Amino acid sequence: MPSNPPNLRVAVVGLGFVGLPLSLSYWQAGADVLGAEIDPRLRAELSQGISHHLEEDDGKPISAILKDALASGRYQLLASAAEATAQADATIVTVGIPHGPSGLDLGPLRAALAEVASAAPRGHLIILRSTVPPGTTRRDLYDLLQARGRSVGEDVFVAYCPERIAEGRAFQEFRGMPVILGAFDPASEARARSVIERVTHAGVATSDSVEAVELSKVIENVQRDVNIAIAQELARTCEAGGIDVFEVIRLANTHSRVHLLEPGPGVGGFCLPLALSYFLPFAQEHAVATPTLLAARSTNAKVPPLLAARALEQARPLAGGRPPRIAVFGLAMKDFSNDARLSPAVEVCEHLIAEGAEVRAVDPAVPLQFSFQGQDPAWAVEGAHALLLLSRQEGLLTWLEDLSPLRTMHQGALIVDARNWLKDGAQELKPLGLGYWKI
Ligand SMILES: NC(=O)c1ccc[n+]([C@@H]2O[C@H](COP(=O)([O-])OP(=O)(O)OC[C@H]3O[C@@H](n4cnc5c(N)ncnc54)[C@H](O)[C@@H]3O)[C@@H](O)[C@H]2O)c1
Repeated sequence: MPSNPPNLRVAVVGLGFVGLPLSLSYWQAGADVLGAEIDPRLRAELSQGISHHLEEDDGKPISAILKDALASGRYQLLASAAEATAQADATIVTVGIPHGPSGLDLGPLRAALAEVASAAPRGHLIILRSTVPPGTTRRDLYDLLQARGRSVGEDVFVAYCPERIAEGRAFQEFRGMPVILGAFDPASEARARSVIERVTHAGVATSDSVEAVELSKVIENVQRDVNIAIAQELARTCEAGGIDVFEVIRLANTHSRVHLLEPGPGVGGFCLPLALSYFLPFAQEHAVATPTLLAARSTNAKVPPLLAARALEQARPLAGGRPPRIAVFGLAMKDFSNDARLSPAVEVCEHLIAEGAEVRAVDPAVPLQFSFQGQDPAWAVEGAHALLLLSRQEGLLTWLEDLSPLRTMHQGALIVDARNWLKDGAQELKPLGLGYWKI
C-alpha cells in the first residue's frame, strides 16, 4: 500500500489582523498549522476561541472558525516563532512594523526573522508577508541566513509575498486576490508558489527582483493615499462651489478609465498613512524628489483637524461658555472594522479634547480602550452640541435608522457626516432642529 505524503505543516508567525485569518485559511485548506503569537494576552484570548476581528467566511465568524480549528487538533497556538518553525515545513511571517516618534521600528520584525532563521530546519521555506521598506528581505533575511552559513536556494528557501487583503474581507481575499511573489532563486520561487497556491486560487505574479515586489506593495498603498487626497481636494472644491461631491464622483466614475474614491474623515490603519514612510527612504537614498506624494500625505493629514474645527465652530456658541459636548459615532479606521490603529476618528476626538470639548464616542466593534469611549449611543448624543459620523458600524446604522433619538441633542446642534451616511441628511434633520454638514 502506498503511504500518503505527509501533510503540509505551516507555521504562521504573528496572529494579528493578517496572521490569524491567514493561519485559519491554511487550516481550512487542510494544512497542519502552528500559529506563533508573542503577545500573551492575545494568545490567551485566541486559545479560548475569542477574536475581536469582524472577519467571516461563508457567514461563519472568525471566532467560530478558530474554535473549530482548535478542536480539530490540526491547529496549535505557540508562544515561540522558533518552536513553531522547528516543527513546520514552511514559515510565513506576518509581523508588522510599528511606527513611533522616530519613524518605523523594524526591531520586532527583525527579531522574528532572526528567530525563524535560526530555527529553520534543512529544506525549510520562509515566506515574508509583511509590508516592508524595499531592501528588507535581502538585508534582514537573505543576508542573515547566508551570514550564518545557510545556502539560500539549496538548504533553506526564501520568498517575499506581501499581503494585499483588506480587513473585513480577509478569508475571501486570501483565496481570490492575485498575489505577487519575489524570490532570489528558482527553487525558492517554486516552493513558495506551491505553498501560496494551497490557499490562493487567483494567480501568482512572480519576479526574480524581490526589491521590485517590495516596492510594488508599497506603491499600491501610496497610490491609494494619493487617490484619497484627490477625493479630499475635490470635496473642498465642491463645497466651496456648492456642488455635491458624491454626485460628481458618481458621474465621473461612469467613465470606464476613471475610478475616483470617496472623501472621508481621513486615512487610517497601519497601511495607508504609513505607506510613504516605507517609500521615502528608498527614494531619498537615490536622490529622487517626490513632491506629489508628499503633498497628498499632507492633504490627508489635514482632514481630522478640519472635521474637529467644523464641529467646534457650531458647538461653541451653543455651549454658552461651557465646554461643548461632542458625540462621535464610529472610532474604527474605516467602516465595518474593529481596527482603531492610527484611526482618523480617534484623531478627531483627540483634537476636540485638546480644544477643551467633552467627547462621548461610541463604536460597538472597537473594544473599549479610550477614556472618551462608551457603549450607549443615547449616552453619547444626549445634550450634545454636535455629532460626528466618522465610521459606520452595523449597530450604529440600526440605531440611526430612525433619527428621532437625536431629539435629545441640543437644539441647533450640527451633524458632521464624514461618510455620506445620511444621504438626505439636511431634509431629514431639519424637523428635529438640527443642522447638517456633509464632507
Ligand atoms: N491589517 C491589514 O489589513 C493588512 C493588509 C495588508 C498588509 N498588512 C501588513 O501585514 C503585516 C501584519 O499586519 P497586521 O495588521 O496583521 O499586524 P498586527 O500588529 O495585527 O499583527 C502582528 C502580530 O505579530 C505579533 N508578533 C510580533 N513579534 C512576534 C514574534 N517574534 N513572534 C510571534 N508573534 C509576534 C504581534 O504581537 C502581533 O499580534 C504588516 O506588515 C502590515 O503592514 C496588513
